Amino acid sequence: MKRIPVILDGDPGHDDAMAWMVAAASPMLDIKAVTTVAGNKDIENVTTNTLNVCSLFGIHAPVGKGAHGPLVVEGITAGDFHGKTGLDGADLPPSDRTLSQYSAVELMVRVLEESEEPVVIIGTGAQTNLATLLLYRPDLKEKIEAFYIMGGGIETGNWTPAAEFNILVDPEAARIVFESGVPVVMSGLDVTEKALVYPEDVKRIRSIGTPMGDIVSGWLDFFGETHAAMGYEGWPLHDPCAVLSLIKPEIFIIKDAHLQVETKGLHTRGQVLADFEDQERFNGKAVLDLDREAFIDELIKAVEHFNGREELI
Ligand code: RIB
Ligand code: CA
Repeated sequence: MKRIPVILDGDPGHDDAMAWMVAAASPMLDIKAVTTVAGNKDIENVTTNTLNVCSLFGIHAPVGKGAHGPLVVEGITAGDFHGKTGLDGADLPPSDRTLSQYSAVELMVRVLEESEEPVVIIGTGAQTNLATLLLYRPDLKEKIEAFYIMGGGIETGNWTPAAEFNILVDPEAARIVFESGVPVVMSGLDVTEKALVYPEDVKRIRSIGTPMGDIVSGWLDFFGETHAAMGYEGWPLHDPCAVLSLIKPEIFIIKDAHLQVETKGLHTRGQVLADFEDQERFNGKAVLDLDREAFIDELIKAVEHFNGREELI
């Protein structure tokens, strides 16, 4: 099977880490680079976490450190939402990875220039690196197959009533990406707030009985505590939707759409608006729903992929 070349860009964060675990476990993907962007935590923290999870999952692609903050405005982070380390809930083995000499965008440029075929960029954080790449090398657009992103929410936000966190961190960057002409497949809160993990799912993962099962169930326990404190019965695992909508689209409801980012609104800055009628203006797809059981099964399959790979841990 011809594997899809991908670049993973994110801000780990528990759900980024689990998205990257799914990517690392998939025979369909060829991970060409992993790049970091400030968001859940500051750039140093998310980059340290990235090196650690790449080591844990045996991702040998180069890691490039990216944007310290948004294009225009002051950056925001998610504080201790993901814990002090940004990956609380499990102790990871020491990392064997070092940072690339190239920054995130330099690495993206090299991958796109060297790839014989267009590359899919999977973004699970603010889109600052993606926008910078487009501004710096618009000629490379033709080498980007699509942006599969976690971000936005047509029906609602999670950081403001209108805006989802990844988009709100850098609305100007998201607007550049959405208006670039490169197709965007958006896994927004419409689907990710249905990608719920319940305690019985965590129990299934822990019962796998491997070090990876222990790490992932530990992460989910922590992630669950944070969400339970906010009144959630199941906790939304946002970022794996961006990877699974590429490799398992059949478990999702995905609709062609015209997606726009509001950058000016006093109360609506960072909102993503979707139009499903005007086909002339379609610039991508909105992922709207999923088969939750199938989603959990894919997560478990990814954990089990590492059975017998104890040398990684
Ligand atoms: O709003 C959820 C998104 O913000 C997820 O990608 C999470 O990791 C944070 O980056
Ligand atoms: Ca993220």
